[in-house]
Amino acid sequence: MLSQSPRVRAAIIGSGSGTNARALCAYAAANATGFQICLIIATKHDLGIVDVAQQFGVPCVICADKASFAEDVCAAINTHNIELLLLAGLLRHVASSIVATVNGNVLNIHPSLLPKHGGKGMYGLHVHQAVLDAGDATTGATVHLVTNEYDQGRVIAQAEVPVTQGETAEQLQERVKAIEHQLYGPAVDKFCGELNQPRSSSKTPLEVA
Ligand code: GRF
Repeated sequence: MLSQSPRVRAAIIGSGSGTNARALCAYAAANATGFQICLIIATKHDLGIVDVAQQFGVPCVICADKASFAEDVCAAINTHNIELLLLAGLLRHVASSIVATVNGNVLNIHPSLLPKHGGKGMYGLHVHQAVLDAGDATTGATVHLVTNEYDQGRVIAQAEVPVTQGETAEQLQERVKAIEHQLYGPAVDKFCGELNQPRSSSKTPLEVA
């Protein structure tokens, strides 16, 4: 059940530099969004995403222990009454118990145009190198629902980035990240709109130019 609050209570979870977390916090702070960032969950102390939590005054929980990861994340979600979980560079498996704790409301951002270049082991520079190796003219970013299978959930939003001839995977990653930062906030908002609407509502993926 969603709370009576007009804004969905969201948590961001990640293992990295936190640039998407920063963009999400800034977007929710600056706009009349349908969600608010109420918690950041990190997999280590010394991560950029922890600094983002401090910068925005968002409570932060560290779930470092691999053995109890799912249990610890579920406990944090329950303690903070979280309704929506937003993956932003999480390098851990998302157990079905975590997905169930937020009633399936788990989103991820992936740095390619899914279904291209997704699946187990496809993260970070591996994705961008695969795009270059395939000779794709276009790549981009995808926000999608998280299910039991890696990168297979319904697409909520996509944005395209043209591939430049001769660029490195690092350069491509930087350009795709810039579009990720524009895509994720509006995509989360769109999803929150779906949560508050009858089941018959439109489910067309959002496109960001
Ligand atoms: C992003 O490229 C995102 O698409 C992927 O992980 C990366 C996280 O980067 N899932 P950051 O920590 O948000 O900078």
